[in-house]
Amino acid sequence: MTAPRTFHVKSYGCQMNVYDGERMAELLQAGGLAPQEAGDADLVVLNTCHIRERAAEKVYSEIGRLRREDGSSPMIAVAGCVAQAEGAEIPRRAPAVDIVVGPQAYHRLPDLVAAAGEGRRALDTDMPPLSKFAALPARRKQGPSAFLTVQEGCDKFCTYCVVPYTRGAEVSRPWAAVMDEARALIDAGAKEITLLGQNVNAWRDDDGRGLEQLIVALDRLPGLARIRYTTSHPNDMTEGLIRAHGEVEKLMPYLHLPVQSGSDRVLRAMNRSHGVESYLRVLERVREARRDIAISGDFIVGFPGETEEAFEATLEIVRAVNYAQAYSFKYSPRPGTPAATMEGQVPPPVQDERLQRLQALINAQQLAFNRATVGRRTSILIERQGKKAGQKIGKSPWLQSVHAITDADIGSLVEVEIVEAGPNSLSATLPAPRAESRRSAGARASQMPAFAGAAS
Ligand code: SAH
Ligand code: SF4
Ligand code: F3S
Repeated sequence: MTAPRTFHVKSYGCQMNVYDGERMAELLQAGGLAPQEAGDADLVVLNTCHIRERAAEKVYSEIGRLRREDGSSPMIAVAGCVAQAEGAEIPRRAPAVDIVVGPQAYHRLPDLVAAAGEGRRALDTDMPPLSKFAALPARRKQGPSAFLTVQEGCDKFCTYCVVPYTRGAEVSRPWAAVMDEARALIDAGAKEITLLGQNVNAWRDDDGRGLEQLIVALDRLPGLARIRYTTSHPNDMTEGLIRAHGEVEKLMPYLHLPVQSGSDRVLRAMNRSHGVESYLRVLERVREARRDIAISGDFIVGFPGETEEAFEATLEIVRAVNYAQAYSFKYSPRPGTPAATMEGQVPPPVQDERLQRLQALINAQQLAFNRATVGRRTSILIERQGKKAGQKIGKSPWLQSVHAITDADIGSLVEVEIVEAGPNSLSATLPAPRAESRRSAGARASQMPAFAGAAS
């Protein structure tokens, strides 16, 4: 196989995989390869997700699709969490695969590409914590909204979840590394930075500083307009981080805080190490700090042992919280996790029916949340062109997609008035300027009526 000159990276799964995919692309470009559409690339990197069975199976159907009409294939690298979980099993099952590289080893991708080109074995699923970051090239020019991994791995071992096995133990990147990368992203055009971690709010440095201190330091960086962070664990929502939501100008009013179930019995079986009450109390305090905050969550339905009553408790907690947005999944047994062999596995038709009921409730809440923003003035960060002439698409402080006709550049913050709301996006117009000037770095709570809801 000859050395590839072009590449394509395709990422599945969570935002951290998107981040890793960008970094792999930067690495390959630094090595002289040019980005290319998937169909024509000499090297295709499938950056995979192992979280649910369907996600993990995608890689195999995608490998099949990469075969060209003449029967040849590009050089194929499987990266990400399936690579970590299945390792050498992947080329056994799919012989077209040339390279297997785990999420902590992808800085070695150029060596693996060279090895594969020479027909040598190209598998690396070592998990040296953090060493990849130091070995990666500097960040390159990119869009207005950027991801920045600050924490990786998980020590929580929820009984359904593969992440502690595929990403390894919790590690935090050092303060200086994070700040340097943030500055590089801003120099490259980022206006918004989303700090990423499997448990991002467990970020700690050697001096004992926590995520809120990092956020305060980022808030002071000139050129940055917005800060977000995801995903958080309820047990790591410290008092300081909660307070930051009321105090830090650039921290956006949005919190993704998964609870998974509304039944304490199911939460115990999941090893979530928090209960319903403690979760609701955290949200109450968050809403006290920032009353217009949008809350988002994740739910699993049909976990082993989930009775109809337990499922109804999940509907109950959704009603109590009133989410702006939420993801819900059917429980998927994952090999090697404790829940996969638990008694009381819920039959798929029951899971389907529960998922539909839960999603109907969540969709209604999301639509209501979006409708509640109609008539409001707020800022949007323009991220891309829309389909219609002159149309741009941006994000509100509450992470809603907003369409507006404006000649403002991509990457600018624009004051708009929301005029229409659908389930997945909003429309806005540019209002006539008001007499008094206002800061544009994001709508502040004081200017916004609180959203209805809260655990009352
Ligand atoms: N670290 C994050 C989420 C990681 S995975 C957290 O703890 O919240 C993202 C979501 O996938 C989880 O929140 C959970 O809702 C879902 N998920 C994880 N494992 C799953 C499984 N085996 N079956 C179905 N959904 C799962
Ligand atoms: Fe998975 Fe639980 Fe860790 Fe989240 S906290 S990554 S769900 S084990
Ligand atoms: Fe999937 Fe791995 Fe992310 S399993 S959700 S890509 S951490």
